[in-house]
Amino acid sequence: MSDPKVKIDPTESSYLDAFRLDGQAALITGAGSERGIGREIGLAYAAAGASVGLADVDEDGVRAAAQTVRAAGGKAVPLRMDATDPGSVSAAVAVFERELGPVDILVNSAGISRSTPIWEIGLEEFDLIMGINVRGGFLCLKAVLPGMMRRRRGRVVWLSSVAGKQGGGIFGTSHYAASKAAVIGLCQAAARELGPYGITSNAIAPGFVDTGIVARSSSQELEDQVRVSVAGSAPLRRAGTAKDIACAALYLASDAAAYVTGEILDVNGGSYFD
Ligand SMILES: NC(=O)c1ccc[n+]([C@@H]2O[C@H](COP(=O)([O-])OP(=O)(O)OC[C@H]3O[C@@H](n4cnc5c(N)ncnc54)[C@H](O)[C@@H]3O)[C@@H](O)[C@H]2O)c1
Repeated sequence: MSDPKVKIDPTESSYLDAFRLDGQAALITGAGSERGIGREIGLAYAAAGASVGLADVDEDGVRAAAQTVRAAGGKAVPLRMDATDPGSVSAAVAVFERELGPVDILVNSAGISRSTPIWEIGLEEFDLIMGINVRGGFLCLKAVLPGMMRRRRGRVVWLSSVAGKQGGGIFGTSHYAASKAAVIGLCQAAARELGPYGITSNAIAPGFVDTGIVARSSSQELEDQVRVSVAGSAPLRRAGTAKDIACAALYLASDAAAYVTGEILDVNGGSYFD
């Protein structure tokens, strides 16, 4: 028997409203890749009412991404940004603030991978991976923190990886795994230090997501193998999509996750959990 005192108003929208991002401005790095996670997060945030700054070294890519958001009725600004370069990051943040106002949400999605056995990795390649995946996220955080701390509010979403939790993956290699484990450390330390300022810091740890990143970092052949292997072994029997990750990023940026910080959210079809 249901309790007659409990009355759910079918017009009650506060739950769904908690997932909206109206009036907020989000800076998303790595948003230039055509099938990429950053671009999809931009679309999701714009659909939820945010204005979005789409940043990438790939200028044509972010222009196209911004065009897609605008065509769907959203507000988007393309930003040329090399996340490893402090000057480029602060210049992009300055354009963002001029066009869209203060940064309420930062998503660090810029990242690269390479499939190279550990004994063949040279210092240059090691530094390249760590530079973009770790230093890049750190620099972007540093650039937006003073404003977030002053306003005592902010959301930071990091892209880690299952590779950072399990010592690499079928396609992850040692430098990539190390960089994604470092992202977890940064994310959780930031959660501790920034919580008192009303800023949350959470990460998503995707499994294999069909964006082309694996083909770009090694070969189409390896990407095809990984896709088949994930589809055969993950409990949910398929590779992830950029939308799977964007939905998690929407949750973490929204008021629905107001009391969640320091979380590393597995979005991997069940291929790994802890
Ligand atoms: N796709 C996957 O299977 C997967 C799995 C786990 C984690 N991730 C992580 O998710 C994030 C997004 O991955 P994706 O699959 O969308 O990759 P992607 O290659 O499609 O997109 C990454 C984007 O980062 C940009 N970028 C690279 N270096 C940059 C720099 N110095 N400054 C600014 N932008 C730069 C690239 O130009 C590209 O547009 C990455 O951090 C990746 O490591 C992806």
